[in-house]
Amino acid sequence: MKNITVLVSGSGTNLQRILDSIESGEIQNAQVSLVIADRECYGLERAKNHHIKNILIPRGKNFSSQLNEVISENTDLIVLAGFLSILKSEFCENWKGKIINIHPALLPKFGGKGMWGMNVHRAVIEAKEKESGATVHFVTSGIDEGDIILQKSFDVMENDTPETLAEKVHHIEYEIFPKAINKFFGN
Ligand code: GRF
Repeated sequence: MKNITVLVSGSGTNLQRILDSIESGEIQNAQVSLVIADRECYGLERAKNHHIKNILIPRGKNFSSQLNEVISENTDLIVLAGFLSILKSEFCENWKGKIINIHPALLPKFGGKGMWGMNVHRAVIEAKEKESGATVHFVTSGIDEGDIILQKSFDVMENDTPETLAEKVHHIEYEIFPKAINKFFGN
């Protein structure tokens, strides 16, 4: 059984999707053994509802070292699912090849510092992009720069707004996140 730790900062719908995929058997031989949040958020409540060990480590300068203390050695995969803090490079090095993130755009476009949440969707609309989508990628010390595991796109329509894009991207995320985790585990 593979052990997954999920890091969240927000509503945690992607965490929910992962939990549901494990429950339905879409993701096999894996369990979410720990959920960590960097702030009070609904993602943490979802972990509690599923009786999963959960820890709140308030964001700040010692965050990454505190993370290291609570994430056990037998962790097979660390998943960032709507996680907003930047992890220190030592932490990324330590867990190299075992941390993945979901990003609400088609990386390498619309990634990097400040490119999170609605900022991403606004930038996509402003740039008059023909496509947007979501990307699951490895986490390295460069923000949104790690190798891509899975990506899926859709056409941006003329009447799309940042809000409609956000909703469409979320659905793409729910589709590709379990697939990317399966791919990571070689399932
Ligand atoms: C997702 O759009 C993800 O790409 C981004 O933050 C959002 C998290 O949503 N990094 P949720 O908390 O999983 O609902």
